[in-house]
Amino acid sequence: MRDTILVTGGAGFIGSNFVLSWMESVGSRVINLDLLTYAGNPANLSSLDHDTRYLLVRGDICDAELVGSLLREHQPRAVVHFAAESHVDRSIAAPGAFIRTNVQGTFVLLDRAKAYWSEMSAADRAAFRFLHVSTDEVYGSLGPADPAFSETTAYSPNSPYAASKAASDHLVRAYYHTWGLPVLTTNCSNNYGPFQFPEKLIPLVILNALEGKAPPVYGDGMNVRDWLFVEDHCTAIREVLERGRVGETYNIGGNSERTNIEVVRLICDLVDEMSPSPATGARRNLITFVKDRPGHDRRYAIDASKISRELGWQPAQRFEDGLRKTVRWYLDHSSWVESVRTGAYRDWIAQNYTERLAI
Ligand code: NAD
Ligand code: DAU
Repeated sequence: MRDTILVTGGAGFIGSNFVLSWMESVGSRVINLDLLTYAGNPANLSSLDHDTRYLLVRGDICDAELVGSLLREHQPRAVVHFAAESHVDRSIAAPGAFIRTNVQGTFVLLDRAKAYWSEMSAADRAAFRFLHVSTDEVYGSLGPADPAFSETTAYSPNSPYAASKAASDHLVRAYYHTWGLPVLTTNCSNNYGPFQFPEKLIPLVILNALEGKAPPVYGDGMNVRDWLFVEDHCTAIREVLERGRVGETYNIGGNSERTNIEVVRLICDLVDEMSPSPATGARRNLITFVKDRPGHDRRYAIDASKISRELGWQPAQRFEDGLRKTVRWYLDHSSWVESVRTGAYRDWIAQNYTERLAI
């Protein structure tokens, strides 16, 4: 029986957490296809360096020949598709890469997966799955009293990133309806935890607070996100992969809506507690409001009742506990932090924040 899975983007934040937790819980072979862009870091998986169950292939999901040959050679029972350009601010600065990887790349994967799947035996065809990892941002922005996003909420993406993910979700759906490819789609809220690249809010604020630099808050800081600890997301993906109904989408969220300013203040207090610096004083006092993100979605909230009802999944981690663990992880992994803060990272920080002069 086939037991290998092909993971794309497994060297990124969620992908590397997924591969590590897969090895601990399921333990079958993983082929990780990752282009190793600025966001991909093979060191996240260095604990698997000598593990014969794990293979990293550096390559592009847009490369149809490579994708086809990996499927033929390794005969996976599933594709778990994380690879993407994932940062909203970068999609506003330079959208082209988002269309290429998120739309064209997903198309290539679907197309090659369909060719591979159509040549399998009936039993293998029935067992095969293509799991597409997507985002709540496809649903757009909520008002303060609106009900949370459900699987039937109309798509209304507002950033080039969200639009590219929405397009990829539609392609996944089309491959199911047109050809019966056994797909699953998950739409998840904001993740946080170990190995998140420090251009995203939570690791950026942890590191700025630690280093006595101003944590930058866009606009009035009252935008709301629903935070999910990354391990909980990985558990949900495994549940959907094994027991989700083919052709369905599942929303995944943390039941942890917080305003950005609440999150930033909480991080400042945790850093004060875990790494006191009398010279810096209370890190809250460093918080700086900066120019807002264009088209900044005001509120995201996930109704995760479908995955709870059908698969019994619930987030295990309380936000305040998960945040504490995350701050601890960044304090304990300064060499990882230094290894990812390359010249390209510094250029991005300079570009994004110099033009957001304090307001
Ligand atoms: P990330 O940016 O940390 O990692 C993306 C990975 O994809 C990197 O390893 C990168 O090298 C790889 N990659 C990029 N382009 C590629 C290409 N053309 N070919 C092969 N590999 C390529 O992203 P993340 O935060 O781990 O997100 C993973 C997935 O989960 C994405 O699809 C994202 O849309 C989705 N998602 C993320 C969140 C979140 O809060 N981070 C929430 C919901 C959904
Ligand atoms: O909702 C799921 C999405 O969450 C994922 O699909 C994306 O891949 C992921 O990057 C994330 O998108 P966000 O735009 O919500 O995440 P980010 O960490 O960039 O920002 C979180 C919030 O914090 C958002 O309201 C913008 C704000 N922010 C962000 C940065 C980087 C700030 O106030 N200051 C900052 O410096």
